[in-house]
Amino acid sequence: MLVRYKKSCEKIAMGLLSFMPEERELKKLKETMNIYQTNSNWHLFLWKEGEAFVGLVGIELAEGHYTLQHISVNPSFHGEGIGHAMVEKVQQLIPDLEMHGTAFTEAFLEKCSEAKLAVI
Ligand SMILES: CC(C)(COP(=O)(O)OP(=O)(O)OC[C@H]1O[C@@H](n2cnc3c(N)ncnc32)[C@H](O)[C@@H]1OP(=O)(O)O)[C@@H](O)C(=O)NCCC(=O)NCCS
Repeated sequence: MLVRYKKSCEKIAMGLLSFMPEERELKKLKETMNIYQTNSNWHLFLWKEGEAFVGLVGIELAEGHYTLQHISVNPSFHGEGIGHAMVEKVQQLIPDLEMHGTAFTEAFLEKCSEAKLAVI
């Protein structure tokens, strides 16, 4: 289940975010969390499996599109479809805008588009 990030989950979110290679340094991690907490165009969501938060997805809204800035899943839950499910849920939340990737998220986003095309 996709839920909106709350300040009370800050440490959990930082832990999940740190699985992204470019977010491993604490300084960078804190800067990124600060952007999500202060910039109204940046939105962070967590993925809940039962009572546990196991995934994170962060987007930046822009003019005419939005960017998948961050996506990560706890390694114990890799390969279970959570990454795909998070992308799909976010796309359902913002159906009128196209999701773009960054240098870090583009590859997985491509993978998700391929999976969608395979279903059609
Ligand atoms: C990327 C990530 C979120 C995927 O989460 P997940 O829940 O394991 O993904 P799913 O189970 O929905 O999908 C698994 C598929 O995605 C593929 N995949 C995983 N990471 C990928 C990447 N960086 N680029 C392209 N495909 C990727 C897997 O090989 C697998 O492919 P298969 O179905 O053909 O075997 C997870 O691997 C992760 O947290 N990675 C570390 C953080 C990171 O690097 N994030 C940015 C990635 S672009």
